[in-house]
Amino acid sequence: MFSDYLIDFLPRARTIVFFTGAGISAESGIATFRDKDGLWSKFSPTELASVEGFMSNPQRVWEWYQHRRQVLDKASPNPGHFAISKMQELFPNVDLITQNVDRLHQQAGSKDVIELHGNIITNRCFECSTPYTAEIDINSNNLPNCQKCGGKIRPDVVWFGEMLPADAITKAQEVSEMCEIFFTIGTSAEVYPAANLPLLAKQGGAYVVEINPHKTQISDKVDECIRELSGVALPELLNQIGVKL
Ligand code: OAD
Ligand code: ZN
Repeated sequence: MFSDYLIDFLPRARTIVFFTGAGISAESGIATFRDKDGLWSKFSPTELASVEGFMSNPQRVWEWYQHRRQVLDKASPNPGHFAISKMQELFPNVDLITQNVDRLHQQAGSKDVIELHGNIITNRCFECSTPYTAEIDINSNNLPNCQKCGGKIRPDVVWFGEMLPADAITKAQEVSEMCEIFFTIGTSAEVYPAANLPLLAKQGGAYVVEINPHKTQISDKVDECIRELSGVALPELLNQIGVKL
């Protein structure tokens, strides 16, 4: 499945980056955004994933995130997540950058995950940004208020039009530019600035590998394309270097 060049190079590479998108969690039963049955085919990003959407109807936005939390609550990491976590154990310098908010990489044992779009688990005040620490019942649609200022509570995700957390995007750009092998996995590479990372890696001299059953915006620019599900391809990558998951 993977080229002889990559299999020979991988164990010797000094720095490896895995960059993931919604596709890596698809086999865990979490919907992607832009596939045929993706979230953006049913829901409006402007209504549900923007500051304006929250201001015009905070209850609707909150309920949508509660629904996504209920789905996530029943989901578990899949072999793709576990294979990346295994790579981090095996090799010294493996960075993991994700656009996902589901925390499934962490559940699979990955440490120091660079979360570009925040996470869906924690919450903060929409007005004053104070973290909301009280327990949230994912089965209730009650929109909580800030313990400090009374403002409405929102999930700790990045919405359209918002800045990415500065430390996360800075670190992501740094490790992408420096790495020797860069894997772009399960992402349509359409949302910037995240989508620029594979290109930064390429410019920095990395060998760039895409794992995605479908062609993407960046397929023509990478060194190797694996047209396979990540839950199949990543365990196979381990297998090809002689490691069992
Ligand atoms: P997309 O939904 O745009 O792309 C998912 C990609 O995963 C597609 O290219 C699919 O072909 C691929 N895919 C599907 N199943 C797969 C599988 N089993 N294995 C490997 N690949 C598979 O999702 P993202 O690129 O992650 O932003 O979207 C980027 C951002 O857009 C998200 O982080 C989110 C969204 O709006 C925010 O919430 C800020
Ligand atoms: Zn507040």
